[in-house]
Amino acid sequence: MLDNNNRVINYLRLSITDRCNLRCIYCMPEEGISFIPHSQILSYEEMLHLVRLCVQNGIRKVRLTGGEPLVRKGIIKFIDGLSKIEGLEEIALTTNGVFLKDFASDLRNCGLCRINVSMDTLIPDRFFHITRRDLFHQVWEGIEEAESVGFNPIKINVVGIKGVNDDEILDFARLTFEKPFHVRFIELMPIGKVDSWSSRNFISTDEVLNLVKTLGKVTSINPGPLSGPSQRYVLEGAKGEIGLIGALSHHFCDHCNRLRLTADGSLKGCLFSDSEVDVKTPLRRGKDDKYLSDLIRNTILNKPKDHGLNEYKPRKCVRTMNRIGG
Ligand code: GTP
Ligand code: 5AD
Ligand code: SF4
Ligand code: SF4
Repeated sequence: MLDNNNRVINYLRLSITDRCNLRCIYCMPEEGISFIPHSQILSYEEMLHLVRLCVQNGIRKVRLTGGEPLVRKGIIKFIDGLSKIEGLEEIALTTNGVFLKDFASDLRNCGLCRINVSMDTLIPDRFFHITRRDLFHQVWEGIEEAESVGFNPIKINVVGIKGVNDDEILDFARLTFEKPFHVRFIELMPIGKVDSWSSRNFISTDEVLNLVKTLGKVTSINPGPLSGPSQRYVLEGAKGEIGLIGALSHHFCDHCNRLRLTADGSLKGCLFSDSEVDVKTPLRRGKDDKYLSDLIRNTILNKPKDHGLNEYKPRKCVRTMNRIGG
């Protein structure tokens, strides 16, 4: 369906848990944060019910996010349930990869179409510095396992942070010569652990593109109808692609096709907006599908026009990233 700014909204980002087994420096403090109590988290049955209603209102693609979605028990059965929803064309997952090695084969067999993995560095010690967990090899083996069970493309999400991993941009870009991965460089957004954001550690996608161009001829690729915010490029001779997600410098709000549902049952029209619609309370009070569908439609209609950020100035959002799912 169309929102009030004539955008087609067909993509739901569904955060199934706020919990995570990493502690990335730009997302959480070392000691972790308080997690939402289980009773406040939607059950899988409740999520399936709400996704069905979203599909009746034009959603065609669901991406499961977190926290880290693979820490929630029963995810395979849940995806199996999602895959039976008529009209839902694509189910995807964004994961930090920690449990991917164990799950890859079941994920492949349960109806999941695609996997995106967060990986901000190719250097094991640095992985420990960024995520505060010594799990580089486990994640890398997870990516290889996902590749060997047939996921293609696998997208690797790299959040660029000056002084932390900006010296690895070319190594990540070179990876596309060896592997059919889509390596996406993401601009650090002022959300989550906001005090970690500053214009000093910000790397724009233009800077990344200029660097990538030093490796060879770069051609841009047109996006598909259900595709996300990434500007896509390919280096001549590469097996994979380069993606640039310029969340701040080239924001993609004009073509934004997303709706979000948080693990605790709130619909969000925009990643950065604090305005939310509680669908869990009416669902648990037994309101009928028409009532719930109206809430979904109104959230879509009232979706904010853009992120409303004063571009390079951090702004505190009520929810942290692990409670939204990116
Ligand atoms: P594809 O379906 O594969 O294109 O996925 P995606 O890029 O939309 O999803 P993914 O979860 O891999 O997110 C990659 C990055 O884009 C993360 O940093 C997200 O926070 C960011 N992102 C995803 N959707 C939006 C959005 O609607 N707005 C903004 N500002 N950032 C987004
Ligand atoms: N800015 C940009 N991307 C972020 N992610 C988490 N926090 C931020 C942030 N502040 C990314 C993760 C993951 C995706 C879901 O969101 O690295 O790839
Ligand atoms: Fe890192 Fe994502 Fe976990 Fe936050 S939710 S700590 S960004 S893996
Ligand atoms: Fe869509 Fe909001 Fe992201 Fe813009 S900032 S692309 S409106 S979710």
